[in-house]
Formats: sequence, C-alpha cells, structure tokens
Amino acid sequence: MSWTSDSQKIVVGVSGASGAPYALRTIELLALQGVEVHVAVSDLGRRLLGEEAGCAPVSAESLAGAADPTRVVLHSGRDMGAIIASGSFKHDGMVIVPCSSNTLGALASGMTNTLLQRAAAVTLKEGRTLVLAHRESPLSRIDIGNMDRLAGAGAIIAPLSPGFYMQPNTIDDLVDFMAGRILDHLSVAHDLPIRWGS
Ligand SMILES: Cc1cc2nc3c(=O)[nH]c(=O)nc-3n(C[C@H](O)[C@H](O)[C@H](O)COP(=O)(O)O)c2cc1C
Repeated sequence: MSWTSDSQKIVVGVSGASGAPYALRTIELLALQGVEVHVAVSDLGRRLLGEEAGCAPVSAESLAGAADPTRVVLHSGRDMGAIIASGSFKHDGMVIVPCSSNTLGALASGMTNTLLQRAAAVTLKEGRTLVLAHRESPLSRIDIGNMDRLAGAGAIIAPLSPGFYMQPNTIDDLVDFMAGRILDHLSVAHDLPIRWGS
C-alpha cells in the first residue's frame, strides 16, 4: 500500500508504563484507517511491549497487528536525526500511550533526552495536538503538577481509565474504549461502539 501526500500522519510514542495493549491497538487502528503511523518507543516501553503483549522483537510488523505493516514506520528510539524530531515534519498529532510518570516529568521540564521526548516537545512547540495517555495510580502531587503544566502548554491529558457505560464484556472492549477515545482526540475517524447512548 502506498502513502499519498494527503494521508493523515500521526506520531505514536510508547513509554514504559503498564498498558502495552493500548499502544498496540491504537497503532493497529490508526494503520487500519490508512494513517501513516510514526512510532518511537523508549527502552522501558520496548520491555513492556514484550512482557505485557508478547510484542518482540518490536518491529513494524509486530506493531501493526492486523493492519498493513507498511503503514507503520518504527524509528530508532535514540535517533535524534529521525524526521519526527524536527518541527519541519508536518504531522496531524501525537499520542504517548502509555505515558509514564517519568516521561510526563521530562516533558513538563522541557527535557528531550530521547526521540520520544523530543518528538513530543516539538509537537507542543509547533502547536499541534499532543495526547498524553498517562498510567499510574495513585498520582503524586508532582504528577498532578506536571499534568497541570503540560495542560497549560496545550497537551491533552487523557488518563488510561476506560468507562464502563458501554457494558464491556472483555478486556479488548476496555482497550478499544481508550484507543477509540485517543483516535477521537487525534481527529481520526473510527466506528468503534464507544459512544454514550450507542
Ligand atoms: C513492569 C513495569 C511496569 C511499570 N509500570 C509503570 C506505570 O504504570 N506507570 C509509570 O509511570 N511507570 C511505570 N514503570 C516505571 C517506568 O518504566 C520507569 O519510570 C522508566 O524510567 C520509564 O522510562 P520512560 O519514561 O523513558 O519509558 C514500570 C516499570 C516496569 C518495569
């Protein structure tokens, strides 16, 4: 499958918080919708993808699931020369899913030591959509302060806390709820049955 210049482009960061199935489903859904998906994974994110979702080795093929793997571009997590590290790469938004408290803190303090952090900082400075699907419980006051700072800078804080009003039967239903909401925030169409009253 080939990309066209009008394909939506979304950046997905995967950091080392619990919730690897959310990352894989989000990437799969984006690719199934014909989105050009650029992925950056932190070192701990790579470990969690393997331990929680059997995604090893991490590759475009293992990330794409049932979607066409040519839709997925996996960047080296330490390559600060990757295109997503530059504001000149025009994309339609970024999500970090799951987002660890460590990555949240790095972003709140403006640190860009990894490609994932740099791509997110660039997304913010360029005024593009940045969704942070954070996972930790309970939240420390530092986490809450970091969320406040990032929300003030324009990020969307979207904790991984699925609703139950669609009466889920399976874990996949819960994962789809959050993945669908993430696609909503990124303005990517989908037809998952997650709407209130549907
Ligand atoms: C099995 C495992 C589960 C973890 N789960 C979480 C979590 O849910 N939330 C979190 O903030 N950190 C979690 N951590 C800790 C982070 O991985 C750690 O803070 C790491 O430095 C994050 O690095 P990164 O932000 O560059 O991915 C977990 C670590 C391991 C090994």
